[in-house]
Formats: sequence, C-alpha cells, structure tokens
Amino acid sequence: MLDWTDTHYRYMARQITRHTWLYSEMTHAGAVIHGDKNRFLKFNEAEQPVALQLGGSEPTDLALAAKAGEAYGYNEINLNCGCPSPRVQKGAFGACLMNETALVADCLNAMQNAVQIPVTVKHRIGIDRQNEYAVVRDFVGALSVQTACTTFIVHARNAWLNGLSPKENREVPPLKYDYVYRLKRDFPNLEIIINGGIATNEEIAAHLKHVDGVMVGREAYHNPMVMRGWDRLFYGSSEAPVSYADLVEKLFRYSSWYIQSGNGAALRHTVRHYLGLMHGLNNARMWRRILSDVSLLKNNNGSLILEAWREVAKANVFLD
Ligand SMILES: Cc1cc2nc3c(=O)[nH]c(=O)nc-3n(C[C@H](O)[C@H](O)[C@H](O)COP(=O)(O)O)c2cc1C
Repeated sequence: MLDWTDTHYRYMARQITRHTWLYSEMTHAGAVIHGDKNRFLKFNEAEQPVALQLGGSEPTDLALAAKAGEAYGYNEINLNCGCPSPRVQKGAFGACLMNETALVADCLNAMQNAVQIPVTVKHRIGIDRQNEYAVVRDFVGALSVQTACTTFIVHARNAWLNGLSPKENREVPPLKYDYVYRLKRDFPNLEIIINGGIATNEEIAAHLKHVDGVMVGREAYHNPMVMRGWDRLFYGSSEAPVSYADLVEKLFRYSSWYIQSGNGAALRHTVRHYLGLMHGLNNARMWRRILSDVSLLKNNNGSLILEAWREVAKANVFLD
C-alpha cells in the first residue's frame, strides 16, 4: 500500500507474524530501472517473505524491474492491475490493464522469463460498469492459459475509473465476494487470494473455506496487532505470539538502529507506522499523541517509544 507498507511497516509486521506474506508499496517499473535502486528496492532481510509490487505496462521495463527486485532478495513479484488513481490511468497501467488482457499476458511472460521467483497479479473484478462475473472469469482464464501465473489476488470490487477518488474506489463499488469464490470453483488449480473489506479473524476463517488465501490491507495497517494470532490460527504455528512488551522493545531497538544509520534517518519515519499498535487498549490515545508530537519527535531519540509505552503499560493488565 502506497506510503504505508514501506520497509519500516513491514519490519514491524514481521515481528507480529512470522509467516504472513508481506507486500511492498507499488513501485513503477520505470522508477526502479532509472531511479535510485536502493531507495526503491532496499529492504531488511528480516522482513522476508516479502513481495515486490510493480506498476507498469511495458513488458521490457517490467522484466528489468522484476530482475532487479529478484536480485535485491524479494520472494515474489506482483503486477498491479487494480489501482484506479487518475495518475496511474494516465500512465496506462493499474486497473485499466483489466481491459488489456493480451498486454497483461505479455507483461507477465516477460517478467516471468526474467526471474526464477513467482510472478503474480493483483486485480479487481472489473472496471467501471462491467458487472458480469464473466469479465473477471475471462481475465483470469486467459492469463492462466497464456502465462505461467498461478496466483491471482482479487480485490473483490470494481474499479470505477471516472468520478471516484482512489479512496472512494476502496469503499463505494460493492464487494462481491461470491465472484472470487466462483473463480476458485472454476479454476481449482489456481491459487486464488481474496481481498477487500476483511478485518477480523472470524472473517478470514470464513473466506478460507472458499479460497486459498486472504489479503488484509487497511485493518493490518490501522490495527497491526490483528496479525498477532495469524501464525497460530492460519499457519499451524505452536509458538506463543509476541507480547506487547517484547514488541515495543524490538521496535525501540530497530528505530534506534535506523536513526543511527544517518542519511536523514528520522524517528518519525518508523513510529508513524506504530500509531495503531495499541488499538483497543487503555491509553492508546496517549501512545498515539506522544508518537506523533512533532516537538518530541524532533529529538530523534528512540526512547520516546519506551516513554509512550510506559503510559500504556501502567493503564492495562497484560497476561502475556
Ligand atoms: C493508503 C493505501 C494505499 C494503497 N496502495 C496500494 C498499492 O500500492 N497497491 C495495491 O495493489 N493496492 C493498494 N491499495 C489497496 C489495498 O491493497 C487493498 O486492495 C484495498 O485497500 C482493499 O483491501 P482492505 O479492505 O483490506 O484494505 C492501497 C490502499 C490504501 C488504503
């Protein structure tokens, strides 16, 4: 998710769940090829497994960018065919690619020929007023025949390319989970991952009866501790989930290490992703207030995290 799932968010998420697959922000292939590769691709090995999501519609560029991503250590390359933003439409990629199946096939083939790791695609169930199930069925069906792609991450609503902001495009077009379930029934050999409006462990478990996986976006950002039970619930892990106190200690150490790396590294770069961590606990507001206080953040001292934690710790009873 743009501006959200950067390396600092993903490092935090990985401390909460060992097995959940993490996705980068969408990066345009051209930026990867022509820009500062470290800026766009560098990540912390501790985040793995992590997928690099690319945007673009030039097979040659996407192949080069995928190759660069593989060299940096990503475990999967994902092609974005779901972003509706006007800027992205102008560049003729993102969701409008759902009308260009042959071009998407060329892109996926070029990418897959360039790398050993899996190349996957994330898309919608249609664009604008394409309301029939056949739209997404034919998109997935054609790609499954014309490319080696076997994993499809489906945001279960249309993208309306005119008249809605990107934010509205995540809320207004109705969710049609049954379309995604039908995809799994029609293409049982493909890995079908459902996405859109899924927030609780109960909801995840219910979807897993119909599809192979669930992608959670906004809830995993605003309430990261929702991921705390996932290893046990969905990956069969018997390890105890991380405690709040241990997590805070790890994030304090990580942020302190990051600040010391120089090059303008600032505490606000990491802690902005921590604001939702205490969701539902007493003094969660105090935690957020301290970690977003500009004058306190200016000191660039990781111990601010411990200071904010003390406010939460004294107001709650933790059993683990
Ligand atoms: C701030 C923000 C940025 C996003 N950026 C991307 C992106 O870069 N690539 C992408 O495929 N989806 C992006 N999305 C969409 C989410 O991945 C997801 O498909 C959508 O929010 C619906 O899932 P959710 O209800 O679990 O959040 C973004 C969503 C948000 C809120």
